[in-house]
Parts: sequence; C-alpha cells; structure tokens
Amino acid sequence: MTTSDATANEGELQPSVILTINGLAVNAHKGMTLVEAAWHAGVPRVTSVGCMEGVCGSCRVMLRRGKEVTVGLACQTFVEDGIEAVLLPPASAPQHHYELSDFKDGWDIHARFQDIFPEASRCRHCHGCDNACPKGITVENGVALAVAGRYREAGDAFFECVMCELCDVACPELIAPAHVGLFSRRITAHFHQRPPNLIHRLEELRQDKSGTTQEEKDE
Ligand code: SF4
Ligand code: SF4
Ligand code: FES
Repeated sequence: MTTSDATANEGELQPSVILTINGLAVNAHKGMTLVEAAWHAGVPRVTSVGCMEGVCGSCRVMLRRGKEVTVGLACQTFVEDGIEAVLLPPASAPQHHYELSDFKDGWDIHARFQDIFPEASRCRHCHGCDNACPKGITVENGVALAVAGRYREAGDAFFECVMCELCDVACPELIAPAHVGLFSRRITAHFHQRPPNLIHRLEELRQDKSGTTQEEKDE
C-alpha cells in the first residue's frame, strides 16, 4: 500500500495520525478533518465536497473503527489513528416523483403522500436512519409524523436536514426518509401563508422589475 503524506508541504509540522482514506494510507495532523487530510494527501476522487461546514451534505463517508462501522460527514469528522474512511459516491437520483403545482388544496395531501411514498407506512422502527444521521435528527419519528399526516411537525423534525441521504442508504425498507422529510417541508411551505414582510419585499422587487422608479414609489 502506498502512503501519502498529508504534511509534505507544511514546514516543521510532523504527521501524528495515520489513517486510511479510500484504501490509501495517509499521514495527517491531529485536528484535520477527513476532507482536509484527503486533500493534503492527494487522495483521488475527493471531488464532490462543497461547503466544508456540514451544510451541503455532499461529503458522505463510511467509517470503520475496528469492528464498528458508522457513517458521517467527512468535513465534520476529525482524523483518528487507525480509522478507515471511504468517501461515498453522490446519492442517486430521487425515486419519488411529484409536482407541488399538482396539489390544488390540502384535502388530498395524505392520499397523495401514500401514493408517492407507499413504503413509509412499512417502517420497522429499526432506528437505522436515526443512527445514520450526522445531524442528530430524529428521522424515524419524522417519518412516523408524516405517515400520521402531521406534515408540519414532520417538516420541523427535518429542519436541520442537509439531504446527505445517509438515512436513505441505511433504511432496509427503502423508505427514503430524507425525501419524506423534504416532501413534508415543501408541502407545508406550499400551503402556508408567506410572512407579510416577505410579500412586501417581493412586491417591491416586482415593481422594480417593471420599471417603477424610486421617486414614483416615494410619492
Ligand atoms: S435526515 Fe437523512 S438526509 Fe437529512 S441530514 Fe439526516 S441522514 Fe442526512
Ligand atoms: S431506517 Fe427505515 S425502517 Fe428503519 S426506522 Fe428508519 S425509516 Fe423506519
Ligand atoms: S462538504 Fe458540505 S457537508 Fe461536508
């Protein structure tokens, strides 16, 4: 196995952690995240990461510590001696299709939800999604709320979701909890009265676009 040195160009700092990223042995400094260690060591295929802040959900990683296997976000996980990390490919395209514009009123939301996500009611309460979520979301409960038709509460449960879809990967029933959460947030917003200050600002922008001058507006 080749060893890449994450510290090669960093002066007097000495490597102090040895780990494996995508099968490549890597020397890194304590305090580096897995993404930083991978970039500094030139590990190939680390291209699909973005925000480095735990927000975009793109740096999905599988982690092995001895016999324990977990998942997480590589930009939020610090290097550890002996840890094996495998950066996961981007999530596949969603399998659940719907158009919000097809929802004309709130009466048929639940029937439509059951058509779009028929697997959701088969949750076996295995906690796999909760264990996989790097944001600490109570995913299983969020799915249960949506199945009960409580979309606003379900949406709130998924408020911190970054759509990394690690819960989807973990779900043995192929429920796609991340997309249940996204649906709940979208449908709640779709039927929710926009805040007055937002409506006011949008109207201001609309008038600007149609050529209304500041003087006209001030009159
Ligand atoms: S709920 Fe799922 S998609 Fe959202 S952050 Fe947690 S694991 Fe990622
Ligand atoms: S992983 Fe799937 S089946 Fe298991 S608790 Fe979560 S939603 Fe239910
Ligand atoms: S790079 Fe965006 S969550 Fe890690």
